[in-house]
Amino acid sequence: MPQTLAVAGLTTGHAPFVEEARSRGDLYISQPYELYSAENHEAWAKLFARIRPRWERYANDRFLHGVEALALPHDRVPRLADINRRLQPLTGFQAKPVSGYVPGFLFFDCLRRREFPTTITIRSTGRMDYLPEPDIFHDVAGHVPMHTERAFADTLVRFGDCAHTAVELTARIRDHQERVRRLTNIIKAMSRFFWFTVEFGLMRGPHGPVAYGSGLLSSYGELEHAIEAEEVQRYPIQMEWVINQSAEIDHYQPLLFIIDSFDHLFDLVDTLERWMREGRLDNVAPGLPEVHEGDLRSFMDAAS
Ligand SMILES: [Fe+2]
Repeated sequence: MPQTLAVAGLTTGHAPFVEEARSRGDLYISQPYELYSAENHEAWAKLFARIRPRWERYANDRFLHGVEALALPHDRVPRLADINRRLQPLTGFQAKPVSGYVPGFLFFDCLRRREFPTTITIRSTGRMDYLPEPDIFHDVAGHVPMHTERAFADTLVRFGDCAHTAVELTARIRDHQERVRRLTNIIKAMSRFFWFTVEFGLMRGPHGPVAYGSGLLSSYGELEHAIEAEEVQRYPIQMEWVINQSAEIDHYQPLLFIIDSFDHLFDLVDTLERWMREGRLDNVAPGLPEVHEGDLRSFMDAAS
């Protein structure tokens, strides 16, 4: 290993190992554990110590169970191989290291195979709070504990099925512009649903809502805000609302949706797929998230 790589560490935005993989076009990579610097391990330890008491107050109990079942380390960045050894026997899921953003269809198709694309870099100790892109703390501390829960894991697989359904339904459309338009709407609807559930979802708990969305569970500030802040609107989830609701990305969520249970969430993905087949995702309200060219192309390419 060249000296410069070892010194640079695996800090978000400053990780030569990851940048080189990206420049080679390698999406799926390894986790070169020896490259993590002392500062990288310190960042994990600080994030973990800070958020743990908030998990105990605000997280759903399946998440807390998952943190224990995976034996997430408190003092160092986790090795994905260690996590996977514990995770796979539970639900078949695996954390799969990636070099960066995974285009829409490929991401959902990974979920279908019970692989979760996982960022290996970690934020610097100087930027503990706001991070525009995911890091290993978001992906492994926020997402992966939920993958120990059977109904939740099965829900992600159903999401992967929906991506295949989207390809199948739009592949038949002869007119290119119409095909792009339909696909853009369907991807937007799927992304919004994913955003308001897997990323920012709340679940009914015995004493009020609890968090199961990874964006909440990996954010010290937003986790408390999501549950406690008076200005946050919290409503029982409704499909017609979620798929038409613009998703705000760079500040705390002003609107969150509550599911009853993970079986409820699974059923909702069935509903999402049925609506897709009925054409009810073909004309959703404009707004965020934008559907990027790479996402659209990933769905188009899957048809050929
Ligand atoms: Fe996420």
